[in-house]
This record gives sequence, structure tokens and C-alpha cells, in this order.
Amino acid sequence: MEPIAWVGDRVRILDQTLLPHQERHLELRDHRQVAEAIRALRVRGAPLIGIAAAYGLALAALHAPTKDMDAFLAFLEDAAEELRATRPTAVNLSWAVKRLLGKARACTTPHEAQLVVVAEAQALHHQQTEDDLGLARQGALLLPEGAAVLTHCNTGALATGGYGTALGIVKAAWEMGRISHVYLTETRPLLQGARLTAWELTRHGIPCTLVVDGAVGLLLARGLAQAVVVGADRIARSGDVANKIGTYVLAVLAKEHGVPFIVAAPTSTIDLSCPQGAAIPIEERSPEEVRTVMGLPVAPPGVEALNPAFDITPAHLVTAIVTERGVAYPPYGESLPALMSLPEVSHG
Ligand code: MRU
Repeated sequence: MEPIAWVGDRVRILDQTLLPHQERHLELRDHRQVAEAIRALRVRGAPLIGIAAAYGLALAALHAPTKDMDAFLAFLEDAAEELRATRPTAVNLSWAVKRLLGKARACTTPHEAQLVVVAEAQALHHQQTEDDLGLARQGALLLPEGAAVLTHCNTGALATGGYGTALGIVKAAWEMGRISHVYLTETRPLLQGARLTAWELTRHGIPCTLVVDGAVGLLLARGLAQAVVVGADRIARSGDVANKIGTYVLAVLAKEHGVPFIVAAPTSTIDLSCPQGAAIPIEERSPEEVRTVMGLPVAPPGVEALNPAFDITPAHLVTAIVTERGVAYPPYGESLPALMSLPEVSHG
């Protein structure tokens, strides 16, 4: 399963809007096509849209004017703006764009910058793959022995381009024999759980049960799951977590039923410049996604609908935050800055 790949002068993506029924790849030739793919959720998941934006900027570098550095950088900055504007919540996107722009600005000629930007985008993709593995192994050890686990949305290989974050933990724990079962929510409105997580889990032969989002209360009240594991799109300095709409409900229920609520994310998802959850921009998507299921109308045409794509889980509901650099525990205002000051994990 390769959700994204750099193929010379193009970016190849698996169009996730068609899964699980069709496995169709698209070849994107410029940063505008990459921006469209991110906006339409053909590529999605916080780490993967960071990688996609990096490759989008690499394509922009290949198409930028090379007569002088000023013109080259102006083109690159316009492309960066267009990519940044696609989806506001996941900080991985702006983090990746900033990292590549910094590399380009440090170059002396456009030709040097083209090579450097392409290499950096590839390095970022490689780093994500390695980080996922480290994160998964550490997170798996936090799960109660023999537990059934509940997860939300899709946080697997399709969301990171590597092994996955929360679903990476689930996969590692399954391989270690630590967990017995996985419950997954369908994740309305776009069904990332039903379409993507169920697809990944069945391909890995991990026993799983799909439930509608509204079933999670009953599931936890009956004691069917002993841990909740989710990903994140942005984590504020306070430890407040932005993730797929419905995550907050899960966290409140986990607290109510005394079940650990574990968040898994690479450090590129932690935004220390953002003091708390209230400062995280929440993407509002088209109400049409709520009025329809896979394009079929399910509500009276034009009925008012609200479609926030993410919600904020307050830090006090989060048991632990697992990253590639280690596990953070409350108080997050202290543990997250300490974790971020550790050196990057080197995979050389
Ligand atoms: O709208 P999506 O599908 O991009 O939302 C994805 C999520 O909310 C994931 O939980 C999050 O990005 C973490 S992915 C490792």
C-alpha cells in the first residue's frame, strides 16, 4: 500500500476518495493539482498531507523561473501559500512547507534550490516512515495486555505514508500479541473508518468490528473496549488535541468509563506556538457532505447542516501522548516542551 510516491517529476497518489471499491492512482504534475488532491481528501491524514504539500512544493520548485533567486523564491512562496490554504487544521502541512521554504531560502542559485527542495521532501517522507515505527512500538506497550481497542477515523498507512500512528500502535500491538480485537467507528461524514481503516485492518488480518459513531457510548458502557487510541491533527502546548470530529465525545466517554484515552502523533503535529485548543483553526467543510452519504442524498435538499471536520479534546481527558521521541504525560504544559527540546530521532 503506497498512498504517495515521488516519481521523478511527478507525484503519484492513491485516490483515497475511491477506496475501498477502487484502487486508482493519479499522477499529479504541478502544485495546483496537489492542492486540489489535498482539498478533495484524495490524500488525507495530518502526516500525509504534510508529505503531499512537501512534494507539491518540490513540483513548484521544478516549474519555477530559474533566471534569478528572487523570481524563483517568489514563485515558490506563492505555491506555498496555495498549499497552506488547502486545509487549516493539521499543522503538519504548514510545518512541512515552512521547513522546505527555509531550505530553499538558504540556497544561492535556483538550480541548487531545486535539488535541495526535492531532496528535503523525500527526506521528510522517509523520516515519517521511520518515526511511525518508533512511535508504534512505544505506544503498543501502553495498551493493557489482551485489550480490545477502540479507534476513530483513519490513522494508518493511508494517513501517514508510513506505518500509521494510532493504527500503527494497533498493528504493532497485534503483532506483539498484546491486543485481542479492534472496534472502529465509521466516522461520518466521509467514512474514513468504514472505508479506509476497515480496509487496512482486514488487509492485515486483524480482527475488527465496525460500529456507527453513535454506538461508542454503549460499547464502552458494556466494557467491550479497554483502551481508546486516536491520532491528532494538531496538539497545542497545553495538550489540547484537535482530531477528527467525534474524538471529543470518545474522550469524555473514555473518562466516564475509566478507560485510557491515548493520542498518537509525530512531533510534527505538536504546535508549541499554539497555547491552547481554542486557538486551533477548525476546518469547516461543505454542508453537502452531511446531507449526503457517498454522494447520495439522505436529507431533504437544502436542509441546514453544519460540517466541522475536527473537534478539540481538552488536555485533562488525555491519558498520554505518544510520539516518536517518547511518551508525554500530564501536565502537558511541561512535558510537551520538554519532549520537543529533545534532539530529532536520527535514522542515519
Ligand atoms: O479529514 P482527514 O481524513 O484528513 O482527518 C484525519 C484525522 O483526523 C486523523 O485522525 C489525523 O489526521 C491523524 S492521521 C495519522
